[in-house]
Amino acid sequence: MKLLHIDSSVLGPHSVSRQVSSAIVDRLRQATPGLEIVHRDLSLTPLSHLSGSHLAAAQGGAADATVQEDLAAGQAMLNEFLAADIVVVGAPMYNFTIPSQLKAWIDRIVVAGKTFKYGAKGAEGLAGNKRIIVAVSRGGFYGAGTPAAAGEYVETYLRWVFGFIGVTNPEFISADGIQVGPEHREKALASALQAATSLRAA
Ligand SMILES: Cc1cc2nc3c(=O)[nH]c(=O)nc-3n(C[C@H](O)[C@H](O)[C@H](O)COP(=O)(O)O)c2cc1C
Repeated sequence: MKLLHIDSSVLGPHSVSRQVSSAIVDRLRQATPGLEIVHRDLSLTPLSHLSGSHLAAAQGGAADATVQEDLAAGQAMLNEFLAADIVVVGAPMYNFTIPSQLKAWIDRIVVAGKTFKYGAKGAEGLAGNKRIIVAVSRGGFYGAGTPAAAGEYVETYLRWVFGFIGVTNPEFISADGIQVGPEHREKALASALQAATSLRAA
């Protein structure tokens, strides 16, 4: 069984989402003998944004060395994602949504004919055979009924995009109110780490 671990926080060891995604991976590693783990750090090794020349080359157009390298990087991301049985994603909230580093990765894995297709009934996800677990960290509170609920574009976006490619029940562990103060940060982190230890085995 293969697990792909994605991190996208730019805050290195201070990152909350990294600590929680790590705890999720540790829990699954302990519970699943022989689990093969690949860690992809999108902050350390960022992907470039999609470009017109990238899209043209993907359709068979001419590609210079830079574009070829970029295509190969995108293909490697897609292959890694397709090969994984479980994907653990660290997703901090930056300006109400995911970091652009994580969006660049999503742009490489949401690919027509590979992870979704359009048919008679509209879009159909092709990657539904995976388990996806997301570690979210947010500075404030965005729960249903709170004043900021309409500004939540991390979990809502990821639920939609993973659902679009067929993973209709992604799991979320969240640490909220991280910027409220050190005491609250510790409490929210401890509670998310605890939730990670009770995840069902792979
Ligand atoms: C660049 C930046 C933008 C942020 N934007 C928001 C935001 O829009 N809403 C929010 O609640 N918290 C925001 N925060 C706080 C983070 O969501 C919070 O610190 C979280 O723990 C970040 O995850 P990380 O520690 O894994 O990087 C922001 C933090 C940074 C560094």
